[in-house]
Amino acid sequence: MSEALKREAAARAVAEITSGMKVGLGTGSTARHFVELLGERVAAGLDIVGVPTSEVTARQARECGIPLSDLDTLERLDITVDGADELDADLNLIKGGGGALLREKIVAAASGAMIVIADGSKVVDTLGRFPLPIEVNRFGLGATRRAIADIMAAHSAEGALKLREAAAGEAFQTDGGHLILDAFFGRISRPEALSAELLDIPGVVQHGLFLKMCRKAYVATPNGVETLL
Ligand code: 5RP
Repeated sequence: MSEALKREAAARAVAEITSGMKVGLGTGSTARHFVELLGERVAAGLDIVGVPTSEVTARQARECGIPLSDLDTLERLDITVDGADELDADLNLIKGGGGALLREKIVAAASGAMIVIADGSKVVDTLGRFPLPIEVNRFGLGATRRAIADIMAAHSAEGALKLREAAAGEAFQTDGGHLILDAFFGRISRPEALSAELLDIPGVVQHGLFLKMCRKAYVATPNGVETLL
């Protein structure tokens, strides 16, 4: 989908930010537009503080002149604006395509509201077409992998479980120093059960199912920006 559509969705979210707000800053190509547009408003006098969800976003926000803080200093954020890899009609999400799911979930959970910005290609009837990113500890990777594979079989997964690579033969490493396993489900018919089962595996740090966390989504299509509530 075009960068223009992502930017249109981002612009709608930026319009909701007012002075005094503490704002979670998402990660990914759509969130990148949001940070850039927010930076323009900060340059024009908007007085906010941002909490980035990745090192990449932190760097971009600094370059854009957005004052930054963290969740040790701030008790609660007003709003988080972030992209998504998939969203369904209930605004349940798959996130983590960019590998930032752990910080994204921590920041969203500390926010009064989470707004997703996306283009229309991200909207699905049932989550699972996009491989579910699962952040895991390096220690005991084999055991964690086998435990996840068992859960995938129990949930009738249609595809494989793959260690994410940054380059050929080189594992992708998250900002927290963990690894990512991408789980190809095809369709996830019982997301709540899957979430609980994955979090029960000791080596799983977090997964990319964001259930009942998002309050509103701005979805940009060639016919305009739709608001999903
Ligand atoms: C990063 C994410 C992103 O929000 C998600 O991958 C969407 O990215 P993009 O806007 O580039 O499609 O979850 O961890």
